Amino acid sequence: MEDGYTRGILILACSIFTWIFLHRWSQRTNKGPKTWPLVGAAIEQLMNYDRMHDWLVNYLSKSSTVVVPMPFTTYTYIADPANVEHVLKTNFANYPKVSIISMYQAIQLTDFPFLMVTCIIRIWRCCLEMASLIQMVRTGGNKERRQALSLHLRTYETLAQWFSEITLRFIDPLWRVKKFLRVGSEAVLDQSIKMIDDFTYSVIRRRKAEIEEAQEVLNNDKMKHDILSRFIELEKDPENNINDKSLRDVVLNFVIAGRDTTATTLSWAIYMIMVHDHVAEKLYAELKAFEQDRAEEENVTLKHCETEDLESFDLRTKQFAQLMSYDSLGKLYYLHAVITETLRLYPAVPQDPKGILNDDILPDGTKVKAGGMVTYVPYSMGRMEYNWGPDANEFKPERWIKDGLFQNASPFKFTAFQAGPRICLGKDSAYLQMKMALAILCRFFKFELVEGHVVKYRMMTILSMANGLKITVSTRS
Ligand code: HEM
Repeated sequence: MEDGYTRGILILACSIFTWIFLHRWSQRTNKGPKTWPLVGAAIEQLMNYDRMHDWLVNYLSKSSTVVVPMPFTTYTYIADPANVEHVLKTNFANYPKVSIISMYQAIQLTDFPFLMVTCIIRIWRCCLEMASLIQMVRTGGNKERRQALSLHLRTYETLAQWFSEITLRFIDPLWRVKKFLRVGSEAVLDQSIKMIDDFTYSVIRRRKAEIEEAQEVLNNDKMKHDILSRFIELEKDPENNINDKSLRDVVLNFVIAGRDTTATTLSWAIYMIMVHDHVAEKLYAELKAFEQDRAEEENVTLKHCETEDLESFDLRTKQFAQLMSYDSLGKLYYLHAVITETLRLYPAVPQDPKGILNDDILPDGTKVKAGGMVTYVPYSMGRMEYNWGPDANEFKPERWIKDGLFQNASPFKFTAFQAGPRICLGKDSAYLQMKMALAILCRFFKFELVEGHVVKYRMMTILSMANGLKITVSTRS
């Protein structure tokens, strides 16, 4: 009896071993990650979670399409512009947007196109605000401002946490179990959602109170004209079917699509500029010439400024900001190239998954199955020699300039803003904001990385910096 039992165990163990051996053997020529029975490539993905984008760069440099089987689905990662064009444009209807949020029913956000409305004046103020923020850091600032800044930073940190945990769901086969038991990353996610909700609903309550107050005293100057206030106005008509939850979605949409993408790109741009001296100098020269030309065009005398005299420095910064106009910013080709080159290597949306409705064949012959996912990978695409040549990994804004003018690349090769029918609606607005901010910052300040500070990305839907960017700032004349 005992012998039979032992024999049974031995046969079972041998069968499992043979199954695993044959499974691994059959993949010996695979260019993608090797998988294990049942769990697919989940173990390797989890082990490389913190460096996922570079893990993909490694595989995609060997093959422009990488198939990664997972326990309940298959991910196909693509970096070849022809495949990307097929998914984002030619057969667009077959590859719907996978909203990580709605897909996992964490929270339902209403449509992104709400974000179309942007207020240039606010952006303008924001740039001056950034310069004055640097001044605040230089002078110590006042307590109230430091507290307000710290509250915002805490909220954004929680939002980042939320993104991290949501992103983990893509490769964590146990996330549903964790959610049910309210443990681990899912417990953190619950807390983050609560914190974000509390913050967002408090913004809505405050804005509603401000609107009521302005209406009570019939003070038009106090009326707010930002996007949230407009939606609050629409809420009054029941036909519009807007409630506090949809207002929360409006606020979050704005933060996710417009704020984090540009903010993170600005951080990477400053980082790239400061570790490439020649770029910082070339940019500074372009901005100095721009200032001079614009002052001549506007027939104004540039204010004298001493870098050590904060008052005159502040006045000159403001004068520079006033000289910037939509048209004149369009002529800052090198600045445009610096931003674009930053986005090529550090795209704010590093990978973007799409669902698959029906079986299909990609232009390179890869078969994809309904129910799986196809992900175009801007982070990898920007680093592939087959896309950009042997210097693909170098930061070279010059690659975008031809005969002194900015030269665009195909949106299916430079995919930072997606491409096709669902290309980023805020692209021009984003460039405008980033150009204004960087023009002021790089004209008046020089940045240096704090010694020993490690710059690396954090694994979340947006390519944020894991440890922030610690820099020392000095003024430029
Ligand atoms: C560096 C800055 C930015 C980058 C890299 C960026 C990138 C992207 C990407 C990759 C998508 C496609 C997401 C998807 O469908 O899966 C997208 C969509 C979108 N973005 Fe941006 N974005 C930026 C800034 C902005 C700004 C400033 C706004 C608005 C003020 C904005 C508004 C939108 C909207 C409305 C969509 C949705 C379009 C649609 O679904 O049809 N973006 N963006």
